[in-house]
Amino acid sequence: MNYTKTDLAVNGGPKAKTTPNLPMFPGGLEIGEEEKREVMQVLDAKYLFRYYGPKDFPSKVKKLEEEYKYFLGKRYCLALNSCTSALISGLIAVGVEPGDEVIVPAYTFFATCAAVVAAKAVPVVADVDKSLTVDIEDLERKITQKTKAIIPVHMRGMPARMDKIMEAASKYDLKVIEDVAQSNGGSYRGQKLGSFGDAGCFSLQYHKIITSGEGGILATDDDLIYIRSQAYHDVAACWRKDRFAPPEFEGEIFFGVNFRMSELTGAVALAQFRKLNHIVRRMQRNKALIKKNIIDLPGLDFREITDKEGDTAVCLIVYLPETALVEDFVTALNAEGVEAGGIYNKGVPDWHIYHHWNMLMDKMMPTKKGCPFNCPLCGPAPEYSKDDCPQTIDWLSRSIHFDIPPQLSEEDCAQIAEGIRKVASVML
Ligand SMILES: Cc1ncc(COP(=O)(O)O)c(C=O)c1O
Repeated sequence: MNYTKTDLAVNGGPKAKTTPNLPMFPGGLEIGEEEKREVMQVLDAKYLFRYYGPKDFPSKVKKLEEEYKYFLGKRYCLALNSCTSALISGLIAVGVEPGDEVIVPAYTFFATCAAVVAAKAVPVVADVDKSLTVDIEDLERKITQKTKAIIPVHMRGMPARMDKIMEAASKYDLKVIEDVAQSNGGSYRGQKLGSFGDAGCFSLQYHKIITSGEGGILATDDDLIYIRSQAYHDVAACWRKDRFAPPEFEGEIFFGVNFRMSELTGAVALAQFRKLNHIVRRMQRNKALIKKNIIDLPGLDFREITDKEGDTAVCLIVYLPETALVEDFVTALNAEGVEAGGIYNKGVPDWHIYHHWNMLMDKMMPTKKGCPFNCPLCGPAPEYSKDDCPQTIDWLSRSIHFDIPPQLSEEDCAQIAEGIRKVASVML
């Protein structure tokens, strides 16, 4: 169908999307009898702590770890209270030292960067490419003598290019900690995300693909990384059978914190985990339904897909030819009843874009002398600037983002596509 200006809802025409919009809580909206049953078992047994209770009970947290292990094909999984905690524990477990540099992408939630600083290391920010995952060339440019690790982020559902990242890591002898917070259930070239690096860290926070409100998982194949992350997440390594026994090998026990997952969280996470594949398949179906109806639109460019089968499809991102078009395009889409937004706006803070990471730009630590930025032991930290990653800003400032809830019907998808067709064919 050919549209003209007056057909657009923003100019008084009929709306393309008349079905109600759905919020983006993929797993959250699926909470039902399964979660209730698991939680009630924990409450009935009065077994709220994973390591002990009034009588023996099969720990839900342990079961969650076992099912995740099997799913990822890893030797170990550790459940924690968040992905941030998993990232910090992973960095500490792989041996990141105060003042070491760790490379993070310029487009990720601030938690990735904050975890590096919590481990007393120094974040170095690398550009993202058209896939909005880390740009391999810029990643290599950012490697210095002080670089110890890379945190590739599988951002907004999209697998990072793990083959290239692992190649670079091996060439420069770097540790890799994957941030899978936003891409639980995804894969790259047939291998599950989170299973490539020395450690893979997942989030179960409420906005994520599956959720227990808060929660995290760390996966690894390495004995020492597992034991060290477990020790760190559990204050004084209380999990050990004989908790006061001396360490069996060097680096097994040290000061830790409490990042443990509770049994109630484990119960919800376990029921959600069993829904993961189904949720991802529905998002993939919905994204394909929308995309096939807009793929031919002139002037509309698409986020690069690094792996079609492995993309968890939490969102669709398109690029306009010019930044100046974004605001009016979004207004027109919203008038059509299609929920969409620009990703980057200089004046609107967003913790997912390095440009807005004021804490990093100004090295804002809780105390003046604290590691890593002002600590004499660490040496001079890099200077940060909002101009460090111009390619990231170029892609993000021309992008428009659509959530893809798994709960969308075929009719919802058809109407969303029609709304995009209308606006693009008139405005581009
Ligand atoms: C890319 C990324 N990394 C890390 C995190 C932190 O996850 P959590 O809230 O479980 O600590 C998030 C959460 O939004 C995220 O999006």
